Amino acid sequence: IAVPSSPPALYPSWFAPSPKDILPKLKLPKGFKFGVATASYQVEGAVKNEGKGPTMWDWNGRQPGGVVDNTTGDIVDLQYYLYKEDVARVAALGINAHSFSISWARIFPFGTADSPVNEAGLNHYSDLIDYHIKSGVEPVVTLFHWDTPLAIQAYYGGFTSSKVVDDFVNYAKTVFKAYNGRVKTWYTFNEPRVYCSQVGGYPFNASLAPGINSSTAPYHCSYNVLKAHAGAVKGMLSRSSPFKRYVELSSETAFRAMKIQGEIALKNDDYVGFPWRANNTDDIAAVERHAAFRIGSFSDPTYTTGDWPKIMTDTLPPSYLPRFTPAEKKDLLGKRTSYHPLFRHAQRSHQDHLTSLPSMLIAHMLFDSNAGWAAGPSPDPLSEAWLQATPNFLRESLRELQKRWPTKKMYISEFGFVEPFEAQRTELFRITEDVTRTNYFMTYLGEILRAIHEDKLPIAGTFAWAMLDNAEWNSGLSARFGIQHVNYTTLERTYKRSALSLSEFYKAHVQT
Ligand code: NOJ
Repeated sequence: IAVPSSPPALYPSWFAPSPKDILPKLKLPKGFKFGVATASYQVEGAVKNEGKGPTMWDWNGRQPGGVVDNTTGDIVDLQYYLYKEDVARVAALGINAHSFSISWARIFPFGTADSPVNEAGLNHYSDLIDYHIKSGVEPVVTLFHWDTPLAIQAYYGGFTSSKVVDDFVNYAKTVFKAYNGRVKTWYTFNEPRVYCSQVGGYPFNASLAPGINSSTAPYHCSYNVLKAHAGAVKGMLSRSSPFKRYVELSSETAFRAMKIQGEIALKNDDYVGFPWRANNTDDIAAVERHAAFRIGSFSDPTYTTGDWPKIMTDTLPPSYLPRFTPAEKKDLLGKRTSYHPLFRHAQRSHQDHLTSLPSMLIAHMLFDSNAGWAAGPSPDPLSEAWLQATPNFLRESLRELQKRWPTKKMYISEFGFVEPFEAQRTELFRITEDVTRTNYFMTYLGEILRAIHEDKLPIAGTFAWAMLDNAEWNSGLSARFGIQHVNYTTLERTYKRSALSLSEFYKAHVQT
């Protein structure tokens, strides 16, 4: 272990709005999940092993220009085999939860409901889950974190086709059945907005997987993701399969009938911005458009109305944005809120002040482009252009989310930071001195304590992104988000200062 040159600052003054004397007294709620996060493609490696089928990202990493540093997910952290070491290392820090994803193509190498199940894949995650439980690290499982089985992409265009719904629901039910009782916290989709608009690569950057250049694809993708989400949640609740033939039972009865224990939601991302000029009607309208087309496109359907935000349906014809039937709307909302705590994703909490653009909305530019809004100048320090640390907006942002899309329980399902210049450092003892990242985590956690105590927000867990350095999608291995350094030649892991500080923070605030 590299020893930090000075003790980590638990309550840093780095643009920290929290008065330091308050924080030491505040405790985390009982049972708080103090976790770290990863995702299958980004950490597992072993992409051809034990029957796994290829995914869209295995393919993308092999396309010229697909990943900036031409790295693939073939090895990365090799967590597929080294998971015991990784779980033990976070357990040693006192971290009590790990949010990871299952690779669909390890369970169904060809993706589809009528193709064979890969028992080796099912057994692998079974062992992984057991090892977490044995180590006192709660397994929190995401079913889909962007690594679409290549076969379904090739057969029918993956999430652009409604065929995906039954295949996903079938996969979800297979997994629920296999791990029921051992996994208590489930996510269906990770950041579907990002998947359908950017990482999905549909229209805006055709070099990203799967590189489809289409103006309707992101909306069709969102529509199918939402239907697959609703189907999987029902899959959890109903006895019968597939999706279309489920029997409507009262949620309580169905839940018991399936004996599926736990909570489930999708991990939404993004935020509601602020008008750059507080009383300017154009800027206020820009905020609403931004909220509707981004976070609202998944939050309205699953939390409040069962439907797209009105601004979307007013703007886009059904050929772009398929409409939900009354039955689908009902499915989307379901009766889940009566007993399922829902989840809220507030990664980064990058809060733009939004200002209106002079241009009118142009349909094919919506969803992930500056259609009708632009970021005003930011008062905050930067990590990367897309990743700002804005702890001073965190509480306000969480309050706004809770106001618009109320839930009984909130998790910060990812928050993380790229240490400036880390990738350019060579000596390990300098790399592991990630002071800015440490300050980021400590400052955010201080604000989260205050959100719990002063704003009374039901925050039940936080997941630091990431447990260790990993493959950052099209940035490859060059962007390091880990609280542990990984030497990609020897695969040796080393705690960074941020990992030690997270550990100290937890010990200082845990309620036993
Ligand atoms: C969110 C995504 O879920 C994750 O896969 C990604 O690596 C981090 N953000 C950082 O960009």
